[in-house]
Amino acid sequence: MSAPIPASASAAPATSAHDGRRQILVTSALPYANGQIHIGHMVEYIQTDIWVRTLRMHGHEVYYVGADDTHGTPIMLRAEKESTTPKQLIERVWKEHKRDFDSFGISFDNYYSTDAEENRVLCNTIYGALQQAGLIDARDIEQAYDPVKEMFLPDRFIKGECPKCGAKDQYGDNCEVCGSTYQPTELINPYSVVSGATPIRKTSTHYFFRLSDPRCEVFLRGWVSGLAQPEATNKMREWLGDQGEAKLADWDISRDSPYFGFEIPGAPGKCFYVWVDAPVGYYASFKNLADRIGLSFDDWVKSGSKAEQYHFIGKDILYFHTLFWPATLEFSGHRTPTNVFAHGFLTMDGAKMSKSRGTFITAQSVIDTGINPEWLRYYFAAKLNSTMEDIDLNLEDFQARVNSDLVGKYVNIASRAAGFLIKRFDGCVQDSAMHHALLADMRAAIPQIAAYYESREYGRALRTTMELADAVNAYVDTAKPWEQAKDQVNAVALHETCSVSLEAFRLLSLALKPVLPKLIEAVESFLSIAPLAWTDAGKPLSSASPVNAYKHLTTRIDPKQIEALLAANRESLQPCAEAAASAKAAVKKDAKQEAKEDVKHEESGVISIDDFAKVDLRIAKIVDCKAVEGSDKLLQLTLDIGEEKTRNVFSGIKSAYRPEDLVGRLTVMVANLAPRKMKFGMSEGMVLAVSATDEKAESGLYILESHSGTKPGMRVK
Ligand code: MSP
Ligand code: ZN
Repeated sequence: MSAPIPASASAAPATSAHDGRRQILVTSALPYANGQIHIGHMVEYIQTDIWVRTLRMHGHEVYYVGADDTHGTPIMLRAEKESTTPKQLIERVWKEHKRDFDSFGISFDNYYSTDAEENRVLCNTIYGALQQAGLIDARDIEQAYDPVKEMFLPDRFIKGECPKCGAKDQYGDNCEVCGSTYQPTELINPYSVVSGATPIRKTSTHYFFRLSDPRCEVFLRGWVSGLAQPEATNKMREWLGDQGEAKLADWDISRDSPYFGFEIPGAPGKCFYVWVDAPVGYYASFKNLADRIGLSFDDWVKSGSKAEQYHFIGKDILYFHTLFWPATLEFSGHRTPTNVFAHGFLTMDGAKMSKSRGTFITAQSVIDTGINPEWLRYYFAAKLNSTMEDIDLNLEDFQARVNSDLVGKYVNIASRAAGFLIKRFDGCVQDSAMHHALLADMRAAIPQIAAYYESREYGRALRTTMELADAVNAYVDTAKPWEQAKDQVNAVALHETCSVSLEAFRLLSLALKPVLPKLIEAVESFLSIAPLAWTDAGKPLSSASPVNAYKHLTTRIDPKQIEALLAANRESLQPCAEAAASAKAAVKKDAKQEAKEDVKHEESGVISIDDFAKVDLRIAKIVDCKAVEGSDKLLQLTLDIGEEKTRNVFSGIKSAYRPEDLVGRLTVMVANLAPRKMKFGMSEGMVLAVSATDEKAESGLYILESHSGTKPGMRVK
């Protein structure tokens, strides 16, 4: 993590307008139009939305645009499978996506589609400019082709037997069984996923963006120096290679029909590859907005623009956004991105989201189970920082965090103070109380909190806010308004306590506003104040404007809702709405049914695939191994399983191995075993070992070893 950010970090960059009001265009990655929005996606839209709201609260001119990414082979084939047209499919999915974003309070100024006329025109113009600049090449290449379906096959649409281990039904690029990677041409008995036919090799003309041109390299080397994240800069440097190494390869930007996309001008039967028109879709969405509200599109996007432009993305699509996209813009007369901000991936309990475990959670299921989306906004924000580290969702932690921070610490302040203020003082604060030292400290902290948000250190912003909330609660606990209220002689003191509390509540609300927009709107109406902006820190509540009757602001998370959420998603192989509607019932039925099945299974000694899936087996590298003093059985292992921190595990294998012999070996560990406190320390998992059934056998103990191709953290299934 980076060093603390001074409040001045929010100062406008050089590109901004002179009156201090910056012009800022912000995007989130465009989700594919062939699937539902899940809470992993939501991490990104929530992250972007919090940032956008932060900047709007400074009074800047901010536009946040998005769109569905609609083109490409998977969408074309899915439409076919559902006996519909791609156009109809993407229209339906657009509505679902839009609904999910609205429910989560994602404040797009425009949510559009890449399959739009503006996008076609922009793609053509940009392509024309790149041609003019001499950066487009036509070249013949040989590719896999499905002779039955009469279409070229992307790698993901070819399967066959792994050339290394012979496993069946493996994809054209890597084997999920043995983990090796290879070329699609190496597959044994390859077949087309679309028709089952054996692919043939076929030549066709493709268009390339000449990224290998020295102009591109020179430009990108310069551009990379402005990137905000060191991890992104390092990746870029790796891709660019050393000076003169000419590492950048030309980029294939065309696909042959049939393909759902835009036809390339002057090249019948050829379409732009989806990754060409997708980022241009950012501009198409903005153009559509600009035309509607009378903004000069060119002023914002042409080279020399004074506006700023930021793209929020996941770390998996960095390549497209830091190489192709800036180069495309640079050589077509456009301004280049001010910055690209990449985030990590959402995991559930440390593992990838999984449908069978019910942890592949759709946005819709959150809404349907009555979980307030702002709670998730809060939880994600509390975990987010400016790096590309993955963030983990643990539902128990989620529940505890929201209940203790939002309800216990924050909302509680208002509910404790409001009653007295309204009943005893007509809802009017004591104006002299607004100078209380506690409030002065809180006001002084607000610019720092705003700066944390702007530098995308949301976790820090919220930690600072909760520290302030702790101070307020300590103040209330000391003042004891419930005691003060018992005797009329304490009326002035009681009035002060309630007034300080409510003003403190107003300041906490200001600090939380980017994260909890809907809740804070309700707070603004309760306090009878105008929408809060950062400069309002110094504008206290006033007796001239009494607060309104206090209405319940939010409720705790009910554990039943969490159960229902998992149940809804465990069933999500069936259509989601249906699954969620029956979620509550499902919790009960599931439990009963499972109990019955468990009994049946226990009797036979058989477990279900779900039981097995509960065991999270991971490849672990033994990075250190020591004997344990005072134990003749145990070795202490330090294991790398691809997580940020290594695991400490005690294992009873001392009789079979010398510690130094184990260092560097790959083994298998149970990664989700509850940690166990042992005499010698905490054991955070278990490594798998083979032992002879006869325990007295002398040399019957072996740790399981894994092939050298496997990597720490890989899942064993
Ligand atoms: N269509 C492309 C983006 C084109 S942008 C011009 C795409 N779509 S996506 O639907 O696969 O992903 C959309 C965004 O969500 C990406 O930034 C991706 O990194 C992010 N995420 C998808 N799954 C995620 C998690 N599990 N966790 C966090 N972000 C995730 O890529
Ligand atoms: Zn294999």
